[in-house]
Amino acid sequence: MNVIVVKDRQEGGQRGYQIFKAAYDQGATVYGLATGSTPITTYDALVASDLDFSQMTSVNLDEYVGLAPDHAQSYHYFMQHHLFDQKPFAHSYVPNGLNADAADEMARYDNPIDLQILGLGQNGHIGFNEPGTDPKLGTHKVELTESTIQANARFFDNADEVPRYAYSMGIASIMKSHQILLEAYGEEKADAVKAMIEGPVTPDLPASYLQNHGNVTVILDEGAASKLN
Ligand code: F6R
Repeated sequence: MNVIVVKDRQEGGQRGYQIFKAAYDQGATVYGLATGSTPITTYDALVASDLDFSQMTSVNLDEYVGLAPDHAQSYHYFMQHHLFDQKPFAHSYVPNGLNADAADEMARYDNPIDLQILGLGQNGHIGFNEPGTDPKLGTHKVELTESTIQANARFFDNADEVPRYAYSMGIASIMKSHQILLEAYGEEKADAVKAMIEGPVTPDLPASYLQNHGNVTVILDEGAASKLN
């Protein structure tokens, strides 16, 4: 993995943008996107740029099951607000959390992605692939763990309102991406970062599978990098 340590998430967003731009300049047309607090500064830099995605395709990693696309906490809504309203793509695929037919919904995913952006959960999850997830799975329906429900409760009125299930690309889907950019910010990510980069490849730490991918860039702030050797 190519590890870049920056001062803070603002600088990280600029570096993230440079990686997007390099992929764009090399002809990338399908971009895999993530939600959460981590990629926001990169999306801000994309919005401020003159890159034109109107002929491109985006595919999002995941979505809560049961939330309508216009629900303020849906990942669909997040993407509209942070990126798509300002930088429309020709096609943007975000899983439809209201489609109760999981097989139908998931059949739309797992297409080849040129550049996939990822955040990192404190427990080492990527997408909604929680510890213990079978790495051979493609896009699938996930039951969220208690730790993820608690971590995401800050976005809802209370933890009871956090959906219990999500649709998520699997580790196998993510590993098929041509290039991966993972960003992680804050000391609370430091244990997961260390295990991802220096630990064994194990289902207990889903992000550790990225060690087996040949084209991964990791952008960390000093807090997230603080436990690396
Ligand atoms: C979001 C996603 C998650 C987040 C992770 C980190 O689409 O797939 O894996 O990347 O939970 O979340 P933040 O960025 O809020 O710390």
